[in-house]
Amino acid sequence: MHAMTAGNLRSAYGGESMAHMRYLAWGNKAAKDGFPNVARLFRAIAHAERVHAMNHFARLRGEGGDYLVPSMAAFGLGSTSANLVGAIGGETFEVEEMYPAYLETAERQGEKAAVVSFNYALEAEKTHAALFTRAKEAVDGGHDLELRPVQICEVCGWTYEGEAPEECPICGAGRDKLTAFA
Ligand SMILES: [Fe+2]
Ligand SMILES: [Fe+2]
Repeated sequence: MHAMTAGNLRSAYGGESMAHMRYLAWGNKAAKDGFPNVARLFRAIAHAERVHAMNHFARLRGEGGDYLVPSMAAFGLGSTSANLVGAIGGETFEVEEMYPAYLETAERQGEKAAVVSFNYALEAEKTHAALFTRAKEAVDGGHDLELRPVQICEVCGWTYEGEAPEECPICGAGRDKLTAFA
């Protein structure tokens, strides 16, 4: 694999792994703060980030070795509103800068497996930013988020609020691959 795409996959793996843990921590805080649906949203999206991390890791299967992995990672365990600001910022960075740049590099380098993995993540992150923005509006208004079941695709991390469709529109996986957080 080309060095630059391998490095980008490692960095994305690190970023997604940390986002997974951070969202679980922020989900616990939201539950404590009395926002059970915001907590459920954090846990659903944490699961999507885990799928992305697993996908990136799998693409690196032939690239063994030890690396220091630099990744953008937000810190802080504040109010749920403040945590949502961090979540929105991270998702927006991934959608507007990180994944488009990683995708373009992987395309130029003909790294097809990495292109698929980056594209799966990019598609999901777009919905994450929007869902977290809605959550912040609710919390800042002093009430919990209204939230239907959240579907997460186990193959690509696609994230969707509502009833499960027949298949994932991003990767084509069947309904049995969709996990509902309800
Ligand atoms: Fe995300
Ligand atoms: Fe999918």
